Amino acid sequence: MTNPATNPARTDPAAPASSSSAPAFRAAWTRDWPAYFDAVAGKPPRETLVRALDLFDADLSFDAQTAQAVDIGCGEGRDTMELLRRGWSVLAIDGHPDAIRRLVLRQDLAPTPRLRMQLAELEALELPRVRLVNASFTLPFCRPDAFDRLWRTIVDAIEPGGRFAGQLFGDRDTWASLPDRSHQTGEEAERLLKGFELERFDEDEHDAADAEGQDKHWHVFHVVARKCA
Ligand SMILES: C[S@@+](CC[C@H](N)C(=O)[O-])C[C@H]1O[C@@H](n2cnc3c(N)ncnc32)[C@H](O)[C@@H]1O
Repeated sequence: MTNPATNPARTDPAAPASSSSAPAFRAAWTRDWPAYFDAVAGKPPRETLVRALDLFDADLSFDAQTAQAVDIGCGEGRDTMELLRRGWSVLAIDGHPDAIRRLVLRQDLAPTPRLRMQLAELEALELPRVRLVNASFTLPFCRPDAFDRLWRTIVDAIEPGGRFAGQLFGDRDTWASLPDRSHQTGEEAERLLKGFELERFDEDEHDAADAEGQDKHWHVFHVVARKCA
């Protein structure tokens, strides 16, 4: 695992992941991620994250200034920026150096000790204990042989009463047939979320282009879930 930078200026996006056999960016090579980052630049935070943050804010005893989150597959930072805007401390993680580079260079990012960044692959992720794990549209890109470990790592990282926000991808999604992807049936997705109270579990199926303009069938579970105490 790479050493988290404590502020944007100290981040070295080109630094290799030291604990795995390959640099982190090699694990994220099956799509043109820079083209994806171009396509989504400037987009607002994901609805699942916003819902989770609203639920935290609705709790009068909650103080975002002391809360920590991990944003797995942060990309160019749409969700990380919203977490920072709301006062959270964030560890933003991605396997592609261009994601970290774009996050560092965002015009709307003021230097802050509340942001740490890490170049790391999903397949070898290690996480600190946090109030929120956010993983928007990222988990299916984990290799299937590493997915169970990744999910256990996520569940273990979330404090009791904390939340998971993000997406699991379904077995009827076009990308489910790709050998390096991790997709779940509805039953499997619900099983993964045992031990959580489901605050949002929406199964979404539709045909539409992906961010790069390729038509596909989408089968996605949008999840906001609170870990039982
Ligand atoms: C579809 S993008 C989602 C980005 C952002 N969360 C969003 O909602 O727009 C998936 C992200 O996961 C990262 N990624 C893909 N495979 C990965 C892997 N095996 N390890 C680490 N990161 C990976 C990509 O670099 C990309 O930033």
